[in-house]
Formats: sequence, C-alpha cells, structure tokens
Amino acid sequence: MVYTPHLQELMKKVEETRPSRVGVHYPRMTAAERQEVLRRFHPDFIEAGFRQLQVGVDKGSRVPLEMADILEAGSRLRGAALDLNRCAYDVDVLVIGGGGAGASAALEACAAGVSVMVATKLRFGDANTMMAQGGIQAADKPNDTPCIHYLDVVGGGGFYNVPELARALVMDAPLVIEWLESLGAMFDKKEDGTMNTIHGGGTSRKRMHAARDYTGAEIMRTLRDEVYNRGIKVVEFCPAVELLLDSSGRAAGAVLFNLETEEYLIARAKTVIIATGGSGRLHYQGFPTSNHYGATGDGLVLGYRAGAKTIFADSIQYHPTGGAYPPQLLGLLVTEKTRGLGGTPLNINGAQFVYHLETRDVESSAIIRECKERGLGVPLPTGSTAVWLDSPLIELTHGEGTIERQLPAMLRQFARFGVDIRKEPMLIYPTLHYQNGGLLIDEHGRSTVENLYVAGETAGGIHGRNRLMGNSLLDIVVFGRRAGRHAAARSGEVRPDGFSLEHVWNYEKELESTGSAGGRVAPILLPRYTHR
Ligand code: FUM
Repeated sequence: MVYTPHLQELMKKVEETRPSRVGVHYPRMTAAERQEVLRRFHPDFIEAGFRQLQVGVDKGSRVPLEMADILEAGSRLRGAALDLNRCAYDVDVLVIGGGGAGASAALEACAAGVSVMVATKLRFGDANTMMAQGGIQAADKPNDTPCIHYLDVVGGGGFYNVPELARALVMDAPLVIEWLESLGAMFDKKEDGTMNTIHGGGTSRKRMHAARDYTGAEIMRTLRDEVYNRGIKVVEFCPAVELLLDSSGRAAGAVLFNLETEEYLIARAKTVIIATGGSGRLHYQGFPTSNHYGATGDGLVLGYRAGAKTIFADSIQYHPTGGAYPPQLLGLLVTEKTRGLGGTPLNINGAQFVYHLETRDVESSAIIRECKERGLGVPLPTGSTAVWLDSPLIELTHGEGTIERQLPAMLRQFARFGVDIRKEPMLIYPTLHYQNGGLLIDEHGRSTVENLYVAGETAGGIHGRNRLMGNSLLDIVVFGRRAGRHAAARSGEVRPDGFSLEHVWNYEKELESTGSAGGRVAPILLPRYTHR
C-alpha cells in the first residue's frame, strides 16, 4: 500500500459508491457539450502554447512552440567536414526508423525484390510501437464493416480526416490482422478460435484486437523477427540528420550520424521512407509523456527542411489516462483498455463525471475541467491533482481474475510501486501521447516531395484532429506496407541524378534572414533533461 493515509481516506469514497456503479453507464455528452469542453479545456486551444512558423513551405501555419523550435533550427551539419561522394550505403529503398511502420515498409519493399536498408536511431524496435498496449482496430466481425469503422474514425477525428487516408486505413485493416497472424502474431482468442475484441473510446463496435495489454510489443516482436528472417540490413544507433535531394529536388538518400563513432555516413537511395515516429519527448506545454525516449520529432525536421508540407501539426493527443501517482509512474500509459473493460474515472467524491469511453480529446478535457475548474480533483502528495480510475470495478463487473488475464502489464506496472489495481483504484491525469498531424501523405504514403514517403506517427491526415485508440498500431502497418510497396516500385523508375544538401543551406539562409533559429540545431535526437 503506497497510498498515503489521506489518499486512503479519500479512496473510501470510491469504495462506497462502487456497488451502485456496477453495470450503470454514465450518459454520453451531446455534440454541443463535447465542443464546449474541448474549446475550454483541451490544450490545443491554449493559444499561448503555439506560434506561427516563420520559414519553410508552411510558413504562417500554427504549430506548438516546442515543435516550431525544432522546425526553425539550424542543421547539425553546419561546419561538418563531409564528402558526399563517399557513400557508406547505396540501396534502392532507404527506411529511416526502426519501429512498426519502418519494419512494415522494409518487409514490403523487400518482398518486391529491391534492396532495402533500415537505419534507426536506437535499437531496432525502440519505438512507440513497442510501448503500445491496448490494441489494434479492424472491422472483421459479422456485426461490423470497414464502412462502420470509417464512420468511427472520421467522427473521432472531428471530420477533419483526409477521406482517402481514412478509407485506406479501414479497408486494409482486416488484411493487416491476417498478415500479422500469418507472420506469427498471437492475438487473444476465445475458446472457439474467434478473436476476443472489446470497445475503445469512440468505437461503435467491439473491434479492438489485443495481445493482453502488450499488443504493440507482440506486433513489434513479430515484425522485427521477420525483418531479420528475410535478411534485411538494419543499421542501429545511426539516426538520419538530413535528407539528400537530387538536382531536381527529389529525395535521394540521407546523411546518417553514427552515435557510437560520431561519424557522418552517406546513405544513397532511389526512394526514402521516413518512419521516425512521434514527438512526445518535446513535452508540449510541459506535459509528461507516454512516449519512448527517442520520440523527438526527427522526421518532421528532416521532411520539413526538404520541403514536405505538414497537415494538422497543431493537433496533439493527450491520452486521458496517464499515470499520476506514485510519481515513478508519472505520464506512463494506463491503457485505454482499462476503460474498455469498464474502469471509470471518478472525482474526489467518488462520483463519475464523464462517460468512460468518450473520445480521447473529450475525455481528457473533462478530466482537466474536473481538476482545474471544478476543483474536484484528488490532491496528490506531489502537489498536483488527479482523478481516480476505478480498476477494481472491472473485477466486480467481469469477475475475479479479469485484470490478471487482460491487463497483466498494468497489474505489474502498478504492483512494482505497491499499488494492487485489483483492489485499489489508480490515480491518473492526461499525458502527452500522440501527434495527430504530421507530414502530409497520400494513400501510397507519398509526401509532397518526390520520392519521399512517410509512414507511421510522422505522417498526418489519417486521423484528422483526434485519433481513436487502436488506429495507430493499425496505421503503422497499413501505411508502412503501402509506402514500402510504392517506394519499391518507384525505385525501379528512378535514374540517379546527383545528390546534394543545397536545400539545407537554403533553409539556413531563410532562417538567418528571419533571425528565427536562435542558435538551436535539430533534429535534437535525444531529449534534454538536464539544465546547465
Ligand atoms: O491506451 C492505449 O492502449 C493506447 C493505444 C493507442 O494509442 O492506440
């Protein structure tokens, strides 16, 4: 028991109200109520957290301050002695990033018979994919269709989604589950062999497929094994720090930085796929994050500097249930599957204040309102406030042993710090989880720069302004595979036509003319947690 005597006292209110909440659903918000709570409490609406870009292809567009800082930064190659003609690698398709999107892209490009290489900043698999817990959506049950899935996706995205991208996502989804299974991924099944599926926030059908609450790890394990099985070259600890463009401004490779030897390495390619993941480690508006250590928005920087357009770069997802206490769990993901199984958010009085499966943007905003405006958050010994997530209600609703069976990662994550979530509710608060927007792509994963593809969290447009749970593990595979296939086919048509860093130096000149670089360099590669 790690909860202080004061928290234990407050917890009694949760226990008192629990029996009356079994099987009872709190009413959903109306559309007008959703708009109102978003506008007033979602961090995307706090203007002080944003500024307009002063340089580049999307000059004038609004992005979070921390993102603007990395987009408007100088190159790491400024002053570096580089011989562009000394190629360390020469391949047809260069994949930058070793998460689920990069691995999926590499597998498809390899299957098309071209030469492929994956260059990744940390180890292969060090990615948000590995940390994804709750599940992957696919409409493959008799009561569901890709069309219904589509309606959920665009409804959840605030109707901003690029229709072709949302369509590709839902249409490929059942095929993706089959493909992953054929490679050896093990999803939870019932005794009759059919998939065990549950709801996520904003889903109208139970279509969340899971491997307990280790779904991302299971998918990443499968993809990584397959990349190794097929003998695809993987270069670890070598982040890309710039793209190379040919004389017509088309992507033609990248400059990699070997983190161990501190050498720059030239990787030449006919087509390039950026799959470097998200940017949670920029800690927008000071939020803690559920993201892995390498999520520093590198792909956004590389692509933007090369002229790739962005979409919805000002739309950030705050997952409603980040760990809030004990402090060792601050910001870590408490999977939405906990709510999918019936765990409900409660205020200091043990009272529910929001339907437990609103979309993430709405659910987070309601939690922030409960704490900040209504003053009904639970005060923590750390000085901040949180709300309860009543996990013991799951055992009461579905029977003893449900948490051990369905949420083993959560059970262990909290048990390590003395909280038994089968008996004690969790303390949670929104955490920075996902970059809804990113570099604009089409349904083949093509960016607005020729021969440059983008897949996974670095890409934008698929999810509109709010992604639903389980559609990220899905999109990394859907668009990773699509980008891999198209980039491979395209590489057969490309005739190498020189390559240079001219675009980088031009960008630097533009930065100088506006005085906006402020001495910063990017990509930052690793987050900074120390102060001089
Ligand atoms: O809550 C979760 O398990 C996260 C899933 C997701 O972001 O898709």
